[in-house]
Amino acid sequence: MWDEARHIEIVAKAVEDELGGELGYGPWSLLWWWMQNDPDPLKRLTVTNSWAEANLMQTLREWRQEATARGYTRIAELSDYLQADERTHVMLGTDWIRELTMDDPEHLAELVSWGRNAIDKMNAFWADSGKPRDDPSEVQFTFLKAGQKETPAPA
Ligand SMILES: [Fe+2]
Ligand SMILES: [Fe+2]
Repeated sequence: MWDEARHIEIVAKAVEDELGGELGYGPWSLLWWWMQNDPDPLKRLTVTNSWAEANLMQTLREWRQEATARGYTRIAELSDYLQADERTHVMLGTDWIRELTMDDPEHLAELVSWGRNAIDKMNAFWADSGKPRDDPSEVQFTFLKAGQKETPAPA
């Protein structure tokens, strides 16, 4: 949480200083709010850490490359710092979900199902953005190992 608080602070400052932006220019939607308030913390980690932040690795890499190409050194460095932090968040989410569902395959299956449903809802929200979206049924959360069954075997 401290990382994320620092992220908004340093990103807002850099956008104000370097790009002429100001707070309120790009209001944050409430789209994530219902997810972040789910009482099961592993559901929050499923979507935020094990999907969105994993995708963020590529986005931050693109931001760093674009900023470098355009001479925005501070933005390029900022993207690099953010990427390093987000990588630890992905690993934390991955490790904790694996650890805490090790003996609970039903919970693991519920996380996958819940996470895919949440991604489907987000896709619907962003449907008119024109950007290609992940097919929820194809999403590979970072805590799933290659070839791992996503649903528990029938008892
Ligand atoms: Fe962040
Ligand atoms: Fe993060």
